[in-house]
Amino acid sequence: MNRIQTTIAAFLIAMAGLAVPADSSAQGSAKKPAAAAPAVPGEKVGPGTQYSEKGADTCLDCHDKDADTLTFSTNGIFKSRHGHRRDKGAPFGPGGMQCEACHGPGHVHSTKGSQEKLTINSQKRDSFVPVAQRNAQCLTCHDSRNRTGWHAAAHEKSGLACADCHQMHTDRDAVMGKTSQPDVCFRCHQKQRADFQKASAHPVKHGLMNCADCHNSHGGSATTASLIKPTLNQTCTSCHADKRGPLLWEHAPVAEDCLTCHNSHGSVRPGLLAKSTPMLCQQCHSASSHPAVARTGASLPGGTGGGAIFTVAGSCTNCHSQVHGSNHPSGSSLTR
Ligand code: HEC
Ligand code: HEC
Ligand code: HEC
Ligand code: HEC
Ligand code: HEC
Ligand code: HEC
Ligand code: HEC
Ligand code: HEC
Ligand code: HEC
Ligand code: HEC
Repeated sequence: MNRIQTTIAAFLIAMAGLAVPADSSAQGSAKKPAAAAPAVPGEKVGPGTQYSEKGADTCLDCHDKDADTLTFSTNGIFKSRHGHRRDKGAPFGPGGMQCEACHGPGHVHSTKGSQEKLTINSQKRDSFVPVAQRNAQCLTCHDSRNRTGWHAAAHEKSGLACADCHQMHTDRDAVMGKTSQPDVCFRCHQKQRADFQKASAHPVKHGLMNCADCHNSHGGSATTASLIKPTLNQTCTSCHADKRGPLLWEHAPVAEDCLTCHNSHGSVRPGLLAKSTPMLCQQCHSASSHPAVARTGASLPGGTGGGAIFTVAGSCTNCHSQVHGSNHPSGSSLTR
């Protein structure tokens, strides 16, 4: 069967309604594999329920070095954590299901004359096996700790598969590497790639930070944007502890939401600011006591022009340098 026929057959299976609908796992539990019926009567399609007799030895009969491609090596699995022989929880540990722990029952597939791609869960994007079912295979071992939020998370709801981010047949899963991780995310999140290139940005492009410093891709907490901490400010102050408070003189918006003034990823303005001062401040503070007329020469310090001194150069923060709050006894106006 060539590639096109294969795709058509997979399409027919899906159209016949035999596939588990993509949203099934949103209900909390992945459904049991639907027994796929032959697309053409008499042909064996679908993985069945029977595991191969000799486990990996069966598979490696055909999937040997010769079957490797430039981008894929079957043996790569043995270099990964999953290949550990002594780890009781790992697929290749004592009593493990080996290849079939991830690829599911492989007896039908291993039989000569099988429909190859239509008889095994390849874990790949083009697989005939529905996403929820592919992921369920991984979640039998990984449905804990960092993934307890997976079933409520944006990535799960959008139908992402584990293998959309993770590679298994390698000792270097790019998404696990500090510096290689962002490129995996940028494949889908183009806007964020651009944000991190801006003049002021969290130092992701320098390899000093990555997305997982702020996000749990598996959807850990119920905050916006799957942040690693229960709230946005807690996420920020996990590193910027000096902004946490409690302070003697708090500045209300700071305690409330760092993003009233900052962008999270990057900004064309210094200090990751969302707007420039004085506009930033005058969204909330009236300009009447601290006038902000146009910056003419007359308004420079020593000029004759009066009020607009408040907007010169560094503007409001020239004097209100403690914009995040103050612990100074007389810091009520955030100037010290
Ligand atoms: C009789 C030989 C044979 C045996 C045994 C065998 N395979 Fe395959 N397998 C193939 C062939 C042929 C393909 C199709 C390769 C292609 O077209 O690129 C394939 C494809 C696959 C794919 C990719 C499917 C896809 O949709 O791209 C996976 C995954 C796979 N096999 C896993 C296994 C596992 C796990 C076992 C052991 C349980 C196994 N194979 C045993 C011959 C075999
Ligand atoms: C920990 C889970 C896991 C185990 C164990 C595992 N695989 Fe895979 N395999 C995957 C995932 C995920 C993919 C999808 C592509 C990728 O990640 O590189 C895959 C892809 C494949 C492919 C398709 C390659 C291609 O690009 O067409 C073959 C063939 C394959 N595996 C065979 C095997 C064999 C044989 C074994 C046992 C020696 C095995 N796998 C063990 C997770 C696993
Ligand atoms: C039979 C159980 C089992 C299955 C099935 C399984 N894993 Fe694992 N996995 C483990 C164990 C054990 C480890 C190593 C200890 C740990 O990190 O918890 C591990 C580690 C990992 C790691 C961390 C690797 C590292 O370098 O630290 C990732 C990522 C992962 N698994 C993803 C997957 C994905 C994706 C699938 C499905 C394609 C999958 N696993 C299927 C048992 C399993
Ligand atoms: C959107 C991308 C993405 C998807 C989809 C994804 N992961 Fe991950 N995964 C990551 C990142 C990023 C890390 C590294 C986290 C870190 O460095 O703290 C990770 C780490 C892991 C780890 C090792 C650390 C840990 O949390 O135990 C396991 C195991 C794992 N993922 C399993 C899975 C499984 C199973 C699925 C599918 C249900 C999945 N992942 C889907 C991005 C993803
Ligand atoms: C310093 C912490 C931090 C880092 C590092 C970070 N993010 Fe975010 N990200 C956030 C916050 C906070 C939000 C919520 C923004 C909002 O609600 O407006 C967010 C929102 C998002 C969103 C939702 C859409 C949006 O822009 O509001 C995506 C997608 C995203 N981040 C992707 C990424 C990727 C990809 C990386 C790594 C290259 C990354 N983030 C690194 C803090 C961070
Ligand atoms: C295969 C495509 C794909 C990859 C790869 C991917 N994402 Fe996403 N991501 C999505 C989709 C689709 C959504 C939901 C729609 C949207 O908000 O754009 C999403 C949403 C998000 C959100 C918003 C979550 C929320 O609760 O609102 C964040 C944050 C995010 N992704 C971070 C990441 C990070 C970090 C990585 C890399 C580890 C990553 N993504 C990799 C497709 C992807
Ligand atoms: C994992 C640690 C970490 C987290 C979490 C974090 N940051 Fe940062 N932040 C940094 C680092 C590192 C820098 C760069 C410091 C430098 O360049 O000297 C930085 C710089 C900044 C800057 C100054 C940028 C500049 O150009 O001077 C601002 C503002 C900032 N972060 C705000 C935030 C906000 C808001 C959040 C929450 C959404 C946050 N940070 C979360 C580590 C973190
Ligand atoms: C009312 C607006 C506002 C809010 C809210 C705010 N900031 Fe800022 N932040 C600023 C301004 C303005 C600057 C630039 C200060 C300067 O020019 O000296 C700044 C600078 C920074 C810097 C870099 C310089 C420094 O002081 O270390 C960091 C880091 C920072 N903010 C983190 C945070 C965090 C974390 C939060 C939330 C807890 C937060 N900011 C909330 C206005 C704000
Ligand atoms: C999101 C709205 C908001 C923004 C933006 C904002 N502030 Fe505030 N600010 C407040 C609130 C609310 C208070 C508390 C007012 C009160 O207690 O009467 C406050 C208090 C203050 C005070 C102390 C006032 C007093 O009563 O003594 C100063 C000074 C101040 N802000 C300066 C700034 C500066 C400078 C900026 C720009 C960097 C700024 N604010 C941005 C809302 C904001
Ligand atoms: C030249 C120094 C200076 C600059 C620049 C400045 N302020 Fe002030 N501001 C002060 C002083 C001093 C006070 C305390 C006045 C008092 O206690 O009577 C004050 C008080 C305030 C207060 C408290 C309530 C009020 O109106 O008296 C707010 C709000 C405030 N400033 C906002 C701003 C904003 C917004 C900007 C930028 C447009 C700004 N300030 C620029 C020196 C400055």
